[in-house]
Amino acid sequence: MNLAGKTAVVTGSSSGIGLAVCRDLLDAGAVVFGLSRRETPLVHEHFRWIQADVTSDVAIDKAFDAVLAQFGRVDLLVNNAGFGFFRDIELIDPAEWRRLVDTNLTAMFLCSRKVAPSMKTARSGMIVNVGSVAGKRGIKGGTAYCASKFAVNGFSESLMEELREFGIRVACVNPGSVMTEFFDHAGLQPKKYMQPGDLARLIVSLVELPDGMLPDELTVRPL
Ligand SMILES: NC(=O)c1ccc[n+]([C@@H]2O[C@H](COP(=O)([O-])OP(=O)(O)OC[C@H]3O[C@@H](n4cnc5c(N)ncnc54)[C@H](OP(=O)(O)O)[C@@H]3O)[C@@H](O)[C@H]2O)c1
Repeated sequence: MNLAGKTAVVTGSSSGIGLAVCRDLLDAGAVVFGLSRRETPLVHEHFRWIQADVTSDVAIDKAFDAVLAQFGRVDLLVNNAGFGFFRDIELIDPAEWRRLVDTNLTAMFLCSRKVAPSMKTARSGMIVNVGSVAGKRGIKGGTAYCASKFAVNGFSESLMEELREFGIRVACVNPGSVMTEFFDHAGLQPKKYMQPGDLARLIVSLVELPDGMLPDELTVRPL
């Protein structure tokens, strides 16, 4: 996809990977809407921040309705908002479990269902879901996080099969550790990290592949 003049929505735009993706999309010429609870620290004539908690279907509907009213369609959706915690199962409160699944998984469904109709009409578009290596193998203490990210992989593969016949690409990117605020709350500290800017470069390069190529899944780890 040539991103010049395209409309993109990125969830979790206020920090880390999402913020870096917004920057790269703007550099590539896209009009970018960022969704997050905290203000997204980006000033650019083609960037708009929409305050939204992605666990709220009302907030998501409102945000996407505003974008669609203005631009008619969304060309690219990056489902990135998410967080994790790693601890023994008896120490996980049911409300925390639900909040994690709502943020990491259900929000992808809520956002994707808002962009699919206009992408189908255009017979083009791309949805990139940020999964994790924790969505490929279990991790001690990661029952909630791994369950959500395994589900993200299943969701992504199913949506890819559903939308490819309409010329819409769905990809799931599964990163290992990235140096972001994620680890301020996660309850673990990895030894090796990638940089959020490098992840963003990878994601945007997948988007910029020729339209006839469908990269459906990519796992990337720190070397
Ligand atoms: N860092 C890693 O090692 C790593 C590895 C694999 C996968 N990931 C995945 O990468 C994605 C981005 O994480 P990150 O590493 O960039 O962490 P981060 O710096 O903590 O960023 C997380 C982003 O998600 C947003 N977010 C969280 N809950 C939200 C909610 N309820 N509503 C709206 N936005 C919400 C945050 O915005 P607000 O707080 O402002 O709402 C923030 O912009 C996540 O899906 C994470 O699981 C990260």
